[in-house]
Order: sequence, then C-alpha cells, then structure tokens
Amino acid sequence: MSVGGATTMELYEQLTAQGDKVRSLKTAKADKADVDAAIQLLLKLKVDYKEVTGQDYKAGCPPSGTAVSNDRQSENGGEEDTVDPWNVATNSAKGVDYDKLIVRFGSSKIDQELVDRIEKVSGQKPHRFLRRGIFFSHRDMNQVLDAYEKQKSFYLYTGRGPSSQAMHVGHLIPFVFTKWLQDVFDIPLVIQLTDDEKYLWKDLSLEDCHRFAEENAKDIIACGFDVNKTFIFSDLDYMGSSPEFYRNVVKVQKHVTFNQVKGIFGFSDSDCIGKISFPAIQAAPAFSSSFPQIFKGRKDVQCLIPCAIDQDPYFRMTRDVAPRIGYPKPALLHSTFFPALQGAQTKMSASDANSSIFLTDTPKQIKNKVNKHAFSGGKDTIEEHREQGGNPDIDVAFMYLTFFMEDDEQLEKIRQDYTSGILLTGELKKMLIETLQPMITAHQENRKNVTDEMVKQFMTPRPLNFNF
Ligand code: TRP
Repeated sequence: MSVGGATTMELYEQLTAQGDKVRSLKTAKADKADVDAAIQLLLKLKVDYKEVTGQDYKAGCPPSGTAVSNDRQSENGGEEDTVDPWNVATNSAKGVDYDKLIVRFGSSKIDQELVDRIEKVSGQKPHRFLRRGIFFSHRDMNQVLDAYEKQKSFYLYTGRGPSSQAMHVGHLIPFVFTKWLQDVFDIPLVIQLTDDEKYLWKDLSLEDCHRFAEENAKDIIACGFDVNKTFIFSDLDYMGSSPEFYRNVVKVQKHVTFNQVKGIFGFSDSDCIGKISFPAIQAAPAFSSSFPQIFKGRKDVQCLIPCAIDQDPYFRMTRDVAPRIGYPKPALLHSTFFPALQGAQTKMSASDANSSIFLTDTPKQIKNKVNKHAFSGGKDTIEEHREQGGNPDIDVAFMYLTFFMEDDEQLEKIRQDYTSGILLTGELKKMLIETLQPMITAHQENRKNVTDEMVKQFMTPRPLNFNF
C-alpha cells in the first residue's frame, strides 16, 4: 500500500524526520512562517500515514509489516468527511477527522504552544475548550496576540442563523467560548443574527425569521454578555439602517465573482441570487468600519472570529477579499462540532428532536434522552464491560462531558475508569445527566430574566464602553 509511491516505512521515516525538523525549528526560534509551513507538512504526512496504515502515527513505533488494514478508508469507503456550512457527515464513530480538515482547509492547528501563549497573554487559565482541543484550529491567532501585547486591541465577531425558536446545547458552544474571550481580553463583541440567510435557505417567512432572531437573542444574552460591550444585530434591521455596513457589503460583492462563490460554496445556476450574494453579508461584520458607532469610523481594528469550522468557507472568502478593499484580514478560532446524541457521525441538529438536548428541555426530558438515545461505547453485558472496558472515544455521554465538565482530573479519572470497565455505561450517563440538568436549569433561569427591553438595548446601534 502506498501514497504517491511511498511505502508505509518510507512514510514513517519521512514523518519522523519532519517531526524532528519542526522541533529543531522551534528550538532555533525560526521564522514563524517557516515553522508553520513545517507543521503543515507534518500534519499532511500524518493524514497520509493514517490513510495508508489505518492507524495514528506514533513516534518510536514503526508500522509493522502486516498492519496495512486501512481502517479509515474502509470505515468511510475512501470518501472524505463532508463539512460545509450546510452539511456535516462522516462514517467514523469517532467523528470528523479534524487533522485532515486542517490540511484540507489550510488552517493551523491550535497546539499546546499556542494554548500556553493565550494563557500568558491573557493571564488566565485557558478555557476548557482550549485545554481539550474543542477549539482546535485557527488562522492568524499569533498575529492577534502579538498586536495585543503591543497594546493594539481587537474585537470579536460571531453569529447565529436563527432558523427556529429551539436552540440546543451545541449552539451555545461558540457563545460560551466567546464570552470567555470577551472577559479575559476585555474587548467589544458584535453578534450577527442572519435572519436574511435563513429566509433565503429555508421555507420560512421573513417575519418568522426575524422573530426567531429576537428569540435567539434572549438565549445568547442569557450566556451572560455585558450590554456595555456587546452589540447584537439582525441583518434585516441593521443592513437597512447602516450606510457603512451596506457599503462594505457592496465592496465585497464587487470583488468576488460568481465562479468563486460557486467554487467555495457549491452554488448552482438554479440557486436564487439572494444566496449567491449572501456571503458578502456574512463577511461585512469582519470589518470594523461596518460599526462606526463602536469604532468611530476606524477601519483598521483587527477582528477575531470564534466559530464552528463549518463556517470557515465564508471567512476564507472574507480573508481573500480583505486586502483588496483595504482592510485587515480577520483572524479565526475554529471549534469542532457538537455530536448528535446518536453518535459523532454528524452534529446535533435542531430539526431532529431526538438528536438534541434543547435549552428548553426539562430535567426529566434530559434524563430520558440521554438514557435512551446517547450512543454508548460500552459493552453489551455488564460482564463483558467489566472485563473489556468501554470505549470513550465513540461514547457520546463521555464526549459531552468533555464539553461541560470543568474539572480536568475528574474527567481523566472517568476516562480511565470507563476504559478499564470500573465505570458502567449507566453510571457514566448518570454523571452526564447530573452535569446537564443544573446547567440547563440555570440557563432557563437566566433566560427568564432577559426582558424585551434588554433585547432592545443589546440590539440598538450605539457606542460601547471602549475608546477607539
Ligand atoms: N451562518 C451562520 C449560521 O448559519 C451564522 C453566522 C453569521 C455566523 N455570522 C457568523 C457564525 C460569524 C459564526 C461566526 O449559523
């Protein structure tokens, strides 16, 4: 078995050599671009290696002559995972192969070094999403930190497509993380609610989409954002009221061809023209001049976008256009997907009630859903489980705990006990239920306290508590 003519052993040796090269470049404090390029090649070699051997590369463990089972390919029929703004699918129970995605999308891995650096610059313990690789990929984060260290501030931009009233726990991931970033860096945040996008893509009325935007805003506000530092906007409202925003949309539209969006998003000749021009609207908030009330007309404030990796196509386009219209490229932090209850082959989806824990679920519903639907990596009988142990890598209850359980040591103990068979599936699920119930109840309490008046405040274009 070979890739591009290389045998497994040759690949292994190439990988080992590349690993050495990365380490020596880092030790020598080589140019960042050179280090990044070397890491990118290393990741690509790892992906090739896994493709050929069916196993992860481990330094010091050369492939055995017979180990050419090619798991991964037979797992998903040799096809690539599907990841775009509308679909997420893989055939692997462990979920999407994120290393492969980094290579395919050309982004960079969030490695330990970057996590350490975020800790140093922010002076705070890194959020568990960083410690556990849930935010796993980035573009230009080092640049943002370099500038921040030189007292050059930046702002955060994230968003949500309000396609229904019902938000699920997976939807909170980017907001929980964005809130942490806002707190530790003390910077402005803009949140785009793309009610226009949902109208264009779904069979919904404009009024419904706009109403969902306001309803979703309540769930977002319930995450604890500071009204003095946060602007939430509906596209349907803000686009028409802000000449500066619309000017940026038009600038982007002029610099992207139909061919390009077809290539990036897969639009076809029969898609409505609203869809074809929409990416410019998701791009505009990445430029500070779209918010003159916040940035006093400055067009050079750097933007950082925390989002799930499926939104990257929009921002690849945005980054490509930015220098051509005289703006800085936005930086990005990408998260993995929040797995469906049925397993990590796809993400949680609000349109499938059984795949999701909703923010409106009662403690009893949470308990029933987890017990009934959460895919288990445990064994069929207690005897077998005690003897052979469970597999946390494909176990949805364990995966959810990695998102929500704060204590690293406790989580590691659960992993070990589950793997060794000391901990049973039912016990693991119980821990998840006991983590989720108070969390969702607290969210519901917070949401109840969000009044229409508060929503209006957050959604009014106004100066924030920052001097630009
Ligand atoms: N398109 C996104 C969705 O459907 C919403 C969105 C708009 C967004 N701007 C964003 C998400 C910026 C993340 C970051 O959910």
